[in-house]
Amino acid sequence: MILKKNINQRNYVSLLLIAKTMSYPYQILTEQEYQDKYQQSILAPEKFWAEVASHFSWHRKWDEVLNYNFETAHTHWFVNGKLNITENCIDKHLKNKGDNIAIIWESNFENEESQFITYKQLHERVIKFTEVLKNNGIKKGDRICINMGMIPELAIAVLACARIGAIHSVIFGGFSASSIADRLEDTEAKMIICCDGAYRGDKIIPIKKIIDDSILIYNKVETVIIYKRSKTEIDFNPDRDKWWHEEEAKITLINDQPEIMDSEDPLFILYTSGSTGKPKGAVHTIGGYMIYTAYTFVNVFQYSPGMIHFCTADIGWITGHSYIVYGPLLAGATSLMYEGIPTWPDAGRFWKIIDKHKVNIFYTAPTAIRSLMSFGHSQFDNAILSSLKTLGTVGEPINEEAWKWYFDHVGKGKCPIVDTWWQTETGGILISSLSGVTDASPTFAGKPLPGIQPVILDEQGKEILTFNKQGNLCIKFPWPSIIRTTYKNHDRCRSTYFSIYSNKYFTGDGAYRDESGNFRIIGRVDDVLNVSGHRIGTAELENVLNSHSLVIESAVVGYPHEIKGEGIYAYVICDPEQEMNNSLHQELIEIVKHQIGSFARPDKILIVPGLPKTRSGKIMRRILRKIASGEHEQLGDLTSLLDSSVVEKIILLARS
Ligand code: WT7
Repeated sequence: MILKKNINQRNYVSLLLIAKTMSYPYQILTEQEYQDKYQQSILAPEKFWAEVASHFSWHRKWDEVLNYNFETAHTHWFVNGKLNITENCIDKHLKNKGDNIAIIWESNFENEESQFITYKQLHERVIKFTEVLKNNGIKKGDRICINMGMIPELAIAVLACARIGAIHSVIFGGFSASSIADRLEDTEAKMIICCDGAYRGDKIIPIKKIIDDSILIYNKVETVIIYKRSKTEIDFNPDRDKWWHEEEAKITLINDQPEIMDSEDPLFILYTSGSTGKPKGAVHTIGGYMIYTAYTFVNVFQYSPGMIHFCTADIGWITGHSYIVYGPLLAGATSLMYEGIPTWPDAGRFWKIIDKHKVNIFYTAPTAIRSLMSFGHSQFDNAILSSLKTLGTVGEPINEEAWKWYFDHVGKGKCPIVDTWWQTETGGILISSLSGVTDASPTFAGKPLPGIQPVILDEQGKEILTFNKQGNLCIKFPWPSIIRTTYKNHDRCRSTYFSIYSNKYFTGDGAYRDESGNFRIIGRVDDVLNVSGHRIGTAELENVLNSHSLVIESAVVGYPHEIKGEGIYAYVICDPEQEMNNSLHQELIEIVKHQIGSFARPDKILIVPGLPKTRSGKIMRRILRKIASGEHEQLGDLTSLLDSSVVEKIILLARS
């Protein structure tokens, strides 16, 4: 189904009128304008981005807009430009928008009051917290890991780091102590900012306890600042631990001096899984990331002043960095932050929040949509949802059924859906329709944003120009928020993203393009799973499973899962000499929870006598994927297998 623009034309008109009266200098308002801007951005990218950058505050203008070399994986935007991103996120708005709401915070608990933080208040709170950081010895370039629930203090901590030039690395609240320790070690973090406990529905995650356990593994953290949220009892180590409120109470003088940073200084490190080994720390730098997140926020969602934007992601992921914190604040928008989960106390929670705060832009993940779909229509009993103007999705391909449900029941048939394709490494949205401006059709992410030059390549690196033919999605020219490096291991960045195809950034996704130039993203072509929008490397999971004393070898694959998008299927070979215990299954799940986090636990574990391998010893995952999906009859050519009888044995076990 192609959603013809004229179906919604009437509703788009009112939207466009608002935008036209109060738009951003870099806002695209019509389809023609999109085409024109796109052409300009391709013909003269430097001129194009310099113009966008001119609408931001810089302490010193850049000498050169772009300097890059894909062979060595070096990209520099706005070379020698000097700025502080938080002056653009906050100070810039104080004069005319100081009393506007920057952040609306909605608690996990329906009966707890919402918080409304104006730009002025945000400014005060951020600069106060920078004093806490400075008093605790933090300087420009230091790394700070942040592990908190979704509370305003998380955004404040992030901004305070950026204000003094400390590099933040936010860790999602679902990670285990061992995963946190890996990140502490890799970043050599001097400080951790956390909370006592984080609320998630009817659960309290004992964040401080998990942090204590992670410090037992990596003990070089000097200071832990704890924000009191859940009043969960904690172990307090007076040599190292400090309460946020006590540290703030000590401040008598605020000496606010935003650090003047280079455009290419790192802003943050965010860990993400790849197809091999340990997660890698994607590094984003200040100038380019700033321009690109602001530009895409305004254009994709067609934000215009006064709108309320609600992104349901966690700030522990890139979506939260770019479209809860930086993008919206750079645009002077109102960003709604929600502490809880979609289905607690019931499946109507999002809809109540939208009505309560008259949300205009709602941005969520397909997995949340599919999960809500399963709760039936009563979730909408008291929902009006008439404030909504734009709906967005991110994180994984959205299936047509979920798209239609979202369009009909949430958008009431009048809100464009933007299916935004991007990655941790891309910093911001690369392929998407622009809400109400360019066409949207279900399951297609749409066209590239200005400045983005996607190509689809075959295995040999030849560009596929035929329509509807799948290949590997690459980008052939840098955009401002492209990944700069993988922390402390630049060669990993080069070899993962820039060496598979010469002179191109390789996304790891498969895609095709239709006759009208819209891209459809199929999913990962590497060994990375996308489970409920969480990226999990199969190699990472296999390493964890193999660390169990009874496991000899394992192979992990994904299979279609109704709600999670992709489920995790683990094939495990155990030591036949050892006595098997019945609790092995549970132990393997525990080990994954312990080493990574419970979001990565396998949905199915099958103990097998062997794995299908080629004569050169490579596991044929294609076969394992077919078996996991129940497609036992369509295994294809098995002649290259060393021992094809193992396949029959696995199928028998999978069926039983
Ligand atoms: C991978 C990136 C981008 C923020 C959240 C995830 C998949 C993302 C879409 C989409 C189809 C999508 C891709 C991509 N993905 N958005 N709209 N349609 N697939 O960030 O954890 O870095 O994962 O998510 O496979 O490579 P991430």
